[in-house]
Amino acid sequence: MAMMYSEKVQDHFANPRNVGKMEDADGVGQVGNAVCGDIMKMYLKIEDDIIVDVKFNTFGCGAAIATSSMATELIKGKSVTEAMQLTNQAVVEALDGLPAVKVHCSVLAEEAIKAALKDYYERKGLPVPPECQICDHDCHACGGCG
Ligand code: FES
Repeated sequence: MAMMYSEKVQDHFANPRNVGKMEDADGVGQVGNAVCGDIMKMYLKIEDDIIVDVKFNTFGCGAAIATSSMATELIKGKSVTEAMQLTNQAVVEALDGLPAVKVHCSVLAEEAIKAALKDYYERKGLPVPPECQICDHDCHACGGCG
């Protein structure tokens, strides 16, 4: 059965934004998807608590690439506080939806951002905000929380 992807998903899959590595990142996060085993790495450049640049790499499916691409666009130029509040649901909405069986792929982007922010706080020797803890929202979208 063919899956229906929105035009935005197809666009971000075909032309993903902010793909690559960052040598001088202030925070780096790598996470794996509990459902499929795919991996994502997120790099953040942060100045005065503003995310001035972001890059990502993924060994993931098309939906993971599209959601990560959209997530990077949503947090670029935002404060770290705003970025840590980004949810996978918000990313899915910004893409005009995902097929239900692919929603778990969007969790990868949210968790990679949180992991990178956690790394940023740890590098600065600051307490890690509870919002940066990965998968404490018990959303069951990814199956990782049981
Ligand atoms: Fe693994 Fe989509 S199937 S992230």
